[in-house]
Amino acid sequence: MENKMLIYGAAGYTGKIIAERAKELKLDFEVAGREHDKIRDLASELQVPYHVFTVGDETAWKIALADKKVLINAAGPFKFTAEQAMHACLKSGVHYLDISAELETYQLAETLDLKAKEAHIQLISGAGLFVSYDALAVYVAGKVKNPQKLSVGFWHFGGFSRGSIISSKNIADLGILVRKDNEIIAQPHAKPKMFRFADDEEECLPTPLGGIILSYKSTKIPNIEEYFSLQLPAVGLPDMTSENLPDGPTAEERAAGRNALSAEVVSDNGEIFRAAVDAPSGYTLTPLSVMAVANRILNGDFKTGYQSPGSAYGVSIIYDIPDTHLIDITQ
Ligand SMILES: NC(=O)c1ccc[n+]([C@@H]2O[C@H](COP(=O)([O-])OP(=O)(O)OC[C@H]3O[C@@H](n4cnc5c(N)ncnc54)[C@H](OP(=O)(O)O)[C@@H]3O)[C@@H](O)[C@H]2O)c1
Repeated sequence: MENKMLIYGAAGYTGKIIAERAKELKLDFEVAGREHDKIRDLASELQVPYHVFTVGDETAWKIALADKKVLINAAGPFKFTAEQAMHACLKSGVHYLDISAELETYQLAETLDLKAKEAHIQLISGAGLFVSYDALAVYVAGKVKNPQKLSVGFWHFGGFSRGSIISSKNIADLGILVRKDNEIIAQPHAKPKMFRFADDEEECLPTPLGGIILSYKSTKIPNIEEYFSLQLPAVGLPDMTSENLPDGPTAEERAAGRNALSAEVVSDNGEIFRAAVDAPSGYTLTPLSVMAVANRILNGDFKTGYQSPGSAYGVSIIYDIPDTHLIDITQ
């Protein structure tokens, strides 16, 4: 098989930045999506081949994936695309990555573990912002003996794309979920928590971000709570399909600030360890992160089956993400 990649949903706001990053890295890739004119224009801009098909078209998937090693699915809401794209990858023996933040697609990937092993592919849903997140979780988990509880604060900068606003409804609708004694449970009355980021201490709101699935996969810590610096954008927005929503932040807006993560782990004897991540803002970080994972696969570094970024690569993947730093919190 050739060392080629396909990016589906490439003409979306984030898909385009991912495709530009792939071009910058001089990778061999093609773009795909459901709308002819948008994909044709992008392909012509990037000077790469393209495919136009809907996500349910199995024959088209077979053709588009025939000579590929890895698929990046950037077409969200993933609730409507992940299942078809994952099955297409299983059939074609192509590694699957997406940038979903929807917990249901992580659970879907989990159920396909055996099939992915049989197909000798790595299946990661959540290979965007959760790459550095999960690497941080693995890092702090390794700093204490018998880690029992993980709390993560996520500081987001750069606003939200239209796609994220629409997709965040699939997260907001779940309410507040945490992992408690190995199980995912609802915790509607969870309180905000203060987190120390690289420079400041900030209050974050309880929000299920996916670490309760992904970082459980990578660390097996039985209790995991997650917090976000903002309310999810779908909360309080009645019209999720509004055409008036902006595509996403401009390059200047993305460059005007940074994302941060803060994680605290507690061991069974009460020992605490904290660390943080300082990273580019969200819509710059996601393309850098998914391309870091794709690059590993293209270089033959993968584990078959359902994986999270941290279960596949441990802490080391964070060092593949440009301008992203792991910082121990000592005070
Ligand atoms: N966690 C992370 O790291 C992270 C970061 C950024 C974005 N995201 C997620 O990535 C997704 C895309 O975000 P975005 O900002 O790029 O949104 P966007 O600009 O709306 O782009 C979405 C793309 O997906 C395509 N698409 C949507 N539904 C489809 C379907 N049913 N079948 C085929 N194609 C479909 C769209 O095609 P059309 O143009 O034809 O509609 C468009 O190309 C969202 O779910 C967002 O939450 C996650």
